[in-house]
Amino acid sequence: MDEFEQFMIDFLHLTGIDLSLYKRPQMERRLTSLRNQLGCDTYPQFAEKLSLQPEWLHRVLDKMTINVSEFFRNRERWTMLSTYIFKGPMTHPFRFWSAACSTGEEPYSLRILASQAGVTEIDLLATDIDSTALSHARQGIYQQHQLREVTKSELAAYFQETPVGWQINREIAESVHFQQHNLLSDPYPSALDLIICRNVLIYFTDGAKHHVISEFAKALRTGGLLFLGSTEQLLHAKEYSLYPVAPFLYQKLSTMP
Ligand SMILES: C[S@@+](CC[C@H](N)C(=O)[O-])C[C@H]1O[C@@H](n2cnc3c(N)ncnc32)[C@H](O)[C@@H]1O
Repeated sequence: MDEFEQFMIDFLHLTGIDLSLYKRPQMERRLTSLRNQLGCDTYPQFAEKLSLQPEWLHRVLDKMTINVSEFFRNRERWTMLSTYIFKGPMTHPFRFWSAACSTGEEPYSLRILASQAGVTEIDLLATDIDSTALSHARQGIYQQHQLREVTKSELAAYFQETPVGWQINREIAESVHFQQHNLLSDPYPSALDLIICRNVLIYFTDGAKHHVISEFAKALRTGGLLFLGSTEQLLHAKEYSLYPVAPFLYQKLSTMP
């Protein structure tokens, strides 16, 4: 066993997070750079520091994946999603889940689309593994670069300008239920009409990705939709009873065997 493998075991004991389910080269590159920044020359030293100074664990979580997000990333895909969800045969109340939502831009984007479609009956759960990202999400304050795809009229209708950035309206913020959740180890919600999970599967090993996609398929109602990121095409979607209905949008068409 090499030093990094031992570190992954130590980290699992410290946090319950299994780093071996993430693609190793990029994970090791990022964590080695953080380890060096924090003044540790070896992984055993790094593990010891983390056990003595748990506040550093947040820095590791920040490094594991990038928390970068923005409102309506790839706007044309959101427009397409809105057509399928709000103008299709689905009936409310809707049950939606924004998984790996980072700092909240995706669930709030979805909530804005719902409001524009005149839909108010939504149960919207938004989760991430990173509690720091979730605190930002609950605060709901964003900078210009996160709002590039938000139109002027949306900015006026759904945000307030404050000295520290643009704050999402309280009514929108309060309609999203944020909760910490690890896609690789926690139980999934059920009977969902839509799961949004973008730009996190790319970090996972093939085995971990298989676990997440099959859990998503079980969590969806028949007819429910899975919305993935724009580099996250599913090659064997049908094995999960998921069928592509538009780029990066999959529909569950029958119950799982
Ligand atoms: C690149 S961000 C994607 C944010 C957003 N979905 C988007 O596409 O704009 C990746 C997010 O995945 C989260 N993440 C990483 N591993 C996770 C896991 N095992 N379970 C849940 N979230 C995870 C990170 O904390 C981070 O917020």
